[in-house]
Amino acid sequence: MAGYLNTDIKKVTANKFVAMKRQGEKISMLTAYDFTTATILDGAGVDGILVGDSASNVMAGNANTLPITVDEMIYHARSVARAVRRALVVCDMPFGSYQVSKDMAVANAVRIMKETGVDALKMEGGKEIADIIKHLVDIGIPVIGHLGLTPQSVHKFGGYGVRAQETAEAEKLIADAVALDEAGCFAITLEKVPAALATEVTKRVSCATIGIGAGNATDGQILVYADMLGLTQGFKPKFLRQYANLGKEMTDAVQAYITDVKASAFPSAEESY
Ligand code: KIV
Repeated sequence: MAGYLNTDIKKVTANKFVAMKRQGEKISMLTAYDFTTATILDGAGVDGILVGDSASNVMAGNANTLPITVDEMIYHARSVARAVRRALVVCDMPFGSYQVSKDMAVANAVRIMKETGVDALKMEGGKEIADIIKHLVDIGIPVIGHLGLTPQSVHKFGGYGVRAQETAEAEKLIADAVALDEAGCFAITLEKVPAALATEVTKRVSCATIGIGAGNATDGQILVYADMLGLTQGFKPKFLRQYANLGKEMTDAVQAYITDVKASAFPSAEESY
């Protein structure tokens, strides 16, 4: 049986994330952008899958996340949602889809929810978008916030360095986190901020904190799947632990295939009709 009629598997919900925080059970999240990868991650038991706008870099080869469109995010999110039975599936709202006006944000959020089947949305920003988030939560859409290094603001920051190392920015981040919590976010992503600051935010908010380059005290962790599996070439920030080297495995496999084809060793008689 598929979808909501399936009673074999207990789907992870936004409320479950908050319950896990309260119970001290760490939350595991990874990104995914396609059906095949999402099937494997969900089957492995990850708690949450983010269809991140990092698809712009990882899938499309863009230099940053700004170019990806709502239509492209819908394509990726729909492919992931189709694969997933247990994990909470979250879709990033791409740059420009929620900053122009509240009406536009609501229209895009509703469209993504209707056309993809994801469980929640994620948006970058603090107090300045708290009103929009409150409205989305009020109309029934669970939202994850995103503070610290927010890649959609890369041009404002001038790069991808660690954020909030100085007191003023750290205090602003705490105030933003409290505003997102009060607006109804069920979780906040904290990207590339000092561990001590992430610890403080985690204590101050009732929603779950999900860290990436934010130390070990957040309620959960997220990594880009292609980075942690060693598929991304030449990207090794300090926070990244590489759990496999699939890039090398793929290269070896492709070279073995090429060798077999050149030597007429593939296909064999057993592999032929
Ligand atoms: O788009 C993304 O992959 C993200 C994670 C890095 C948190 O926002």
